[in-house]
Amino acid sequence: MTTNLEVKVWRGKEDGEFVTYEVPRLESQTVLDVVTHIQRRIDPGLSYRYACRVGMCGSCAMTVNGKARWTCRTHVANVAADGKLELAPLSNLPVIKDLVTDMTGFFDKWARAKGSFKGAKTREDEFALVEPQSTMRLAADAGIECIGCGVCYASCDVVSWRPDYLGPAALNRAWTLINDVRDVRNRERLLAVAGDAGCHACHTQGSCTERCPKHLEPTASISGLKRLSAKTLGRKA
Ligand code: SF4
Ligand code: SF4
Ligand code: FES
Repeated sequence: MTTNLEVKVWRGKEDGEFVTYEVPRLESQTVLDVVTHIQRRIDPGLSYRYACRVGMCGSCAMTVNGKARWTCRTHVANVAADGKLELAPLSNLPVIKDLVTDMTGFFDKWARAKGSFKGAKTREDEFALVEPQSTMRLAADAGIECIGCGVCYASCDVVSWRPDYLGPAALNRAWTLINDVRDVRNRERLLAVAGDAGCHACHTQGSCTERCPKHLEPTASISGLKRLSAKTLGRKA
């Protein structure tokens, strides 16, 4: 395969512009391979982010031909049938430079949603036994594989409209922990996610679920939070 790809890449900050590069088309090439080729062979000043290259770390997400995607597991053949790629930083996050966004606000929202585990047992206690087929365990399992890539967050209209909205990833994380029977701060967490900028702001149209590369369903998690907050705190569902 000898043809070239025409690749437009965002350069600079928010007021930057697209720059076009020609990149050799290779078999089984990923979008991350294309970006790496540009940085190593054409323009060493290009900034982008990746670590694992195998879909585990969540750091390589970008906007590819208008949609947020993880790039290490996105094959060029699936997104650029006409030989053209347009690569931009993720939406809904400040641009640091080129394809790199500042994820601080994204992870601050995980903290606001009480997205860290807090148990009561010590290392002297026995391991907790959690029934694998229990309803809560199954609900926790359904959301636990989040890699924090930000694809859902960049795809969410409500985050675009109101920047204080906690967003699909933080709310999915909160629902996962609420269903972890070992965790001890569920009421505090539920109060944190039931406010105006929390689960009730979601319009349930499901862009997050459609785009999540791990096939998680933040929309379902958010619906769970809505039901539980209505039942427990008496707030609107
Ligand atoms: S379903 Fe809710 S969280 Fe998901 S993209 Fe839509 S508004 Fe955002
Ligand atoms: S829920 Fe999916 S899209 Fe959102 S951060 Fe987690 S893995 Fe990425
Ligand atoms: S580089 Fe780690 S998920 Fe893509």
